[in-house]
Amino acid sequence: MVHVPRVPIPKAVPAGKLSGDIHHCRDSLSAMQGIAAVAGSTAPRFVERPEPAAPGAGQVLCRTLRLGICGTDREILRSAQPWLPPGEEHLVLGHECLARVEAVGPGVTEVATGALVVPTVRRARPGARHRVDLLSFGDFTERGIVCEHGFSAPWWLDEPRNLYRVPPELEKLAVLTEPLAIVEKGIHEAVAAQEARLGAGCWEALPPRVLATGLGPIGFAAAAAAIRRGWPTALYGRDGQDSSRARLAADLGARYVSGELATDDFERDGFDLVLECSGSDEVMLQAARALASRGVMVWLGSMRVPQPAPLNVQQLMRDGLLRNHLHIGSVNAAPRDFRAALDDVAWWHARNAPALARLITARIAPRDALWHYEHRERQGIKAVIEY
Ligand code: BGC
Repeated sequence: MVHVPRVPIPKAVPAGKLSGDIHHCRDSLSAMQGIAAVAGSTAPRFVERPEPAAPGAGQVLCRTLRLGICGTDREILRSAQPWLPPGEEHLVLGHECLARVEAVGPGVTEVATGALVVPTVRRARPGARHRVDLLSFGDFTERGIVCEHGFSAPWWLDEPRNLYRVPPELEKLAVLTEPLAIVEKGIHEAVAAQEARLGAGCWEALPPRVLATGLGPIGFAAAAAAIRRGWPTALYGRDGQDSSRARLAADLGARYVSGELATDDFERDGFDLVLECSGSDEVMLQAARALASRGVMVWLGSMRVPQPAPLNVQQLMRDGLLRNHLHIGSVNAAPRDFRAALDDVAWWHARNAPALARLITARIAPRDALWHYEHRERQGIKAVIEY
């Protein structure tokens, strides 16, 4: 764990007194800077952002307190082709965010100044006809990912319908809400499909044996969400049994497995639900061979730039995931998933907050963040910027 002194957080800003107070905190390094991906470059950059206007009618001014860095950020950078907001030369990154409401505009009653919130990532474009997480590419923007700036520029405007209230006692863990919402969606989709064919409550009567694959934040979040449901859970990775991530899996209550997954007796030793979070075609095919009858596999991990291959299974996984195919591919999260993710955080807060907190393996100041946008620490899980 890296400990770096925090950038001081200014006091809450009353509406109508914005620019003065924001100006006041410009001394701290990143007061008005965002971390951006620039077209044609793979390197993350600090960019100066304009001071936000006071929130207008129906708007909320938020300030980022914590920001998770994830594989998607690194993939956007590696591609050197970020989806830019119209007329912009860079995309401000950041989509896993815990923020505080600093001011609300006229007519806002849903949240008040001082409230802690987690913003959603995806926003439907006008006229979109499906649940937001099921939309086709082109029918949505995603903050920090697709054509809308993200939350690393620490002051941003939003609308209350895109914000989930976070109880103050969950402040330390709530930056994990967004990745938890991703796995919650996968689980909800699997339950819906399974109940459609086996009947309501089928996994309540007989809890599924779960395998989560991959030792990144999504793999651990998948294990955490399955364990919260009381489902017997295994986490697969390539680390040794005595590694820190294997120990964390055990401390969360998962069985850590590595090596060969395929089993001759897949009914007895196999799994009923695989939450595939590695994005690796090799791991996915191995896990598929360990699925018991009536088993469900959900793809939650993919590579943005798959390698060309004679049978491009990684491309199949990525398309399945991003287009919500019923393999089952799963991307983004619905309101029910965000609510469930907050339930996950609250459950872990009450049961074993220190174990869930160990998913955050680096806490860094904004000025030290760029390295983490290009690299993952060995044995690291989630790097979080503390504003
Ligand atoms: C985000 C999702 C997003 C997906 C595809 C993930 O990293 O967590 O919210 O939909 O990337 O852009």
